[in-house]
Amino acid sequence: MQHTAEIEEEATLTDIASILTTFEKGRGSLIPILQMIQEKHKYLSALALQMVAKHLKMSACEVYGVATFYNQFRFYPPGKHQIKVCLGTACHVRGGDIILENFERKLEINVGETTPDREFSIDRVACVGCCALAPVSIIDDTVYGHMAPSKVEGLILGFEIEKEREKREKKKSESE
Ligand code: FES
Repeated sequence: MQHTAEIEEEATLTDIASILTTFEKGRGSLIPILQMIQEKHKYLSALALQMVAKHLKMSACEVYGVATFYNQFRFYPPGKHQIKVCLGTACHVRGGDIILENFERKLEINVGETTPDREFSIDRVACVGCCALAPVSIIDDTVYGHMAPSKVEGLILGFEIEKEREKREKKKSESE
């Protein structure tokens, strides 16, 4: 029997194959194709990049090289909680990179990656327009201003406690 993840992956690949048929086979199609795949599937998997390369008769290396040149593309599925750390000038000056480093260390992933349980992903963003609160991070849709390393710990802990609570409630309702 197939696992849900395998079925999902198969459906994704079938969809990517059908996206590819709507584009001409020239290099000029590369960016629009990558944009469309990311828009529909939220990220570009290694397999998706290989399929694009084959369709455009380019090497997978070349396709990956172009994709990584642009900040708009991500190569991991986004986490359930998306952490965006602002590294615009005001936030950078006030230690935005230290905040980023703290999230990376706490979650044991690098910027642009997603935790293996797909709970968290970390991205860096340019100025989000609230420089007075620098350094700023955004998690899901909430803006957290005046960030500090101790706040990073607290925020992640808060999400972990919430997850545990949900798990317990689910178990309880299943046993009722
Ligand atoms: S630089 Fe971070 S909010 Fe403006």
